[in-house]
Amino acid sequence: MDKVGIFYGSSTGNTRDVAQRLRDTFGHDKADLLNIAEATPEQMLAYRNLVLAGSTWGTGDLQDDWEAFFPAFDELDLTGRRVALLAVGDQQNYPDTFAGWMGQMADKVSACGAGLVGRTEVKNYAFTGSGSVRDGRFLGLVIDEDNQPDLTQKRISAWVRDLRKRFA
Ligand SMILES: Cc1cc2nc3c(=O)[nH]c(=O)nc-3n(C[C@H](O)[C@H](O)[C@H](O)COP(=O)(O)O)c2cc1C
Repeated sequence: MDKVGIFYGSSTGNTRDVAQRLRDTFGHDKADLLNIAEATPEQMLAYRNLVLAGSTWGTGDLQDDWEAFFPAFDELDLTGRRVALLAVGDQQNYPDTFAGWMGQMADKVSACGAGLVGRTEVKNYAFTGSGSVRDGRFLGLVIDEDNQPDLTQKRISAWVRDLRKRFA
């Protein structure tokens, strides 16, 4: 497996912590961790296997650092790259816009030519609306550190098992 580039944007540290755990689960020799607040498009292009991670703010809006990076996607050709999305959200307080970050990111990276991998099931979450769901499944992995922190490591471990195959 080519090394994985994990790029995260985090306002209060939750996505950063989850991204660190994801890297630990892949193994430090298998994955690099980069904060999108400081990362460049060129750094993203260095990886064929990418995980993009972020939280949702406002009502289904992008996390600030991803919002700042967003225009850079217009110049990025991600053809031939595999992208897995990881969204961190709060299903209890924002049930109508749960993890909405993911839907916007999926549309953007798909428009850049990337192949999306790592979709997951919506069972064991409770929400009423989410841009992160298409055809009854999440577009990537969704983590809820506010309400389901006990499930986080199990969800990450299962996802990494799947991604090791998709990124092979
Ligand atoms: C003002 C505000 C708005 C939020 N809006 C949403 C939302 O629309 N959907 C969602 O799933 N979570 C929402 N959240 C929850 C955060 O995404 C969640 O707490 C997340 O873990 C924060 O991650 P971070 O620390 O990496 O930024 C919101 C939180 C706040 C404080």
